[in-house]
Amino acid sequence: MHSLSLLSFLYASAALVPAGAAAGSLHVPLTRRAGASARDLAYYQKQAEHLRGKYNFSRPSTEDKREVVGEGITNQGADSTYFGAVEIGTPPQTFNVVLDTGSSDLWVASTECRTCSSSTPMFDASGSSSIQESSQATTIQYGSGAVRGSLAQDTVSLGGLTLSDQTFLAVSQTTSSLLDGSLSGILGLAFPAISSTQSTPLWLALADDGQLDASEFAFYITRLIDDTSATQEDYGGIFTLGGVNESLYSGDIEFHDLANANSPTFWLLELGGITLNGQGISLTSGDALLSAIDTGTTLIGGPTADVNNFWAAIDGSEQIESMDGFFSFPCDTELSVAMSFGGQSWAINPADMNLGRLSRASNQCLGGIFDLTQGSSIVSGGGNPNWVIGDVFLKNVYSVYRTDPTPSVGFAALSSNAGGSGTTSVPFTTPPATLTTGTIGTPAGTSTGSTTSGGSSSGSGSNNDNNASSRTAAVAPALAVGIALMATFMSLVR
Ligand SMILES: *[C@@H]1O[C@H](CO)[C@@H](O)[C@H](O)[C@H]1NC(C)=O
Ligand SMILES: *[C@@H]1O[C@H](CO)[C@@H](O)[C@H](O)[C@H]1NC(C)=O
Ligand SMILES: *[C@@H]1O[C@H](CO)[C@@H](O)[C@H](O)[C@H]1NC(C)=O
Repeated sequence: MHSLSLLSFLYASAALVPAGAAAGSLHVPLTRRAGASARDLAYYQKQAEHLRGKYNFSRPSTEDKREVVGEGITNQGADSTYFGAVEIGTPPQTFNVVLDTGSSDLWVASTECRTCSSSTPMFDASGSSSIQESSQATTIQYGSGAVRGSLAQDTVSLGGLTLSDQTFLAVSQTTSSLLDGSLSGILGLAFPAISSTQSTPLWLALADDGQLDASEFAFYITRLIDDTSATQEDYGGIFTLGGVNESLYSGDIEFHDLANANSPTFWLLELGGITLNGQGISLTSGDALLSAIDTGTTLIGGPTADVNNFWAAIDGSEQIESMDGFFSFPCDTELSVAMSFGGQSWAINPADMNLGRLSRASNQCLGGIFDLTQGSSIVSGGGNPNWVIGDVFLKNVYSVYRTDPTPSVGFAALSSNAGGSGTTSVPFTTPPATLTTGTIGTPAGTSTGSTTSGGSSSGSGSNNDNNASSRTAAVAPALAVGIALMATFMSLVR
């Protein structure tokens, strides 16, 4: 066998060279001999491992079990929601769940769900031999709604990695518009401190269990908002668990330690700046810069003063009366926006800032940055995020979330495999998607939040729902306003 004899030759020559020179001496003939063949060092290394295994020379390796896995993402509603599949129970039942860095709980609709649409795939606890059910009713309160159900533990798999006792909420009640299409729930990818089910989120539990190569995950998500052939559910990118996928980004990953690295809750960074056509927008300093990096939110939300400053810099922009906190701008204006978090400035594709015409006849288009404090239950200050950086931004970068060496979020340019990053200054030719509903009602996601009382930033008007012991319990729900927002856009944009 050719490969075997070549290996023997290598071992022989390795034995002949002085130790210090071994590596260099080995490499030169190897690469030359490999010649035009596609085989490389890694190939021969694998061959050697195979032989050692065959003849019982294997060293027990614990690293072999640690993995980096990739999971396909689905893009629902032309960039409204990005979801992946988890399997729950024995035998496994498969569910699509929002991959949400802005929350920390796993929940799925259960067959007990009376308020769910009959088309929603639901978890059947009686069909799982491994389920441990609890009668403990738990509510996850969102800024604009809630889900309620009972706690359960069961075998849960993500990307082929499995935990036998992951806690999740089997949901029996949801307020409207949290689920749509093939979506059955949410997978939280933030930290345990904000978990309403008081459990370790799946990604961290897998890391703690030693199944991941690194306690790290990463997102490449697709852009379809400017694609007229987009359907309700399309290819949405790649979620990588246990590391990064080097073919999806180019250059370095620029990491930033979390603003709350000592006791992480959300993935919080401090916003460094926003530019519009290269001009800086004036931002409120201090805690108002705290930004949650949130794959589960469609848009970018910010504090009133800053969002007003941003839109004031755009000729012809208007506050939309019927949509609390939203702005429109002339459809023929191309918004060239970039954001930084203390390093390089990441350009947002103008298509992402333009959510479509307010109506078929209108020349005004809906903007991708909205006033978060208006109509949400987020309480300013005290370490809570005032900005939520959602998919409008995240589509433009490869985003990486890790706990080692410190909890941090990184951004890198997308590789050409992933569509590339950066603003291409194409003239505004393709008309944006049209918001086909003639009447734009008040979006459920923004102003009907059950815990709001009029949307001042003082937050003093909240509420009776969020009385749970810590402030984190109040924050977690508030952010999820994004979930309802995307539901809103799903119906508007079509
Ligand atoms: C290698 O070890 C296994 C058990 O550890 C044994 O069953 C097998 O026969 C061994 N193979 C050889 C080639 O010695
Ligand atoms: C990494 O990305 C490439 C696309 O560039 C994809 O084909 C491959 O499956 C990904 N790997 C994993 C493990 O997801
Ligand atoms: C509110 O607080 C009370 C007392 O601390 C507690 O008994 C009750 O369960 C809490 N309600 C919710 C919805 O958390």
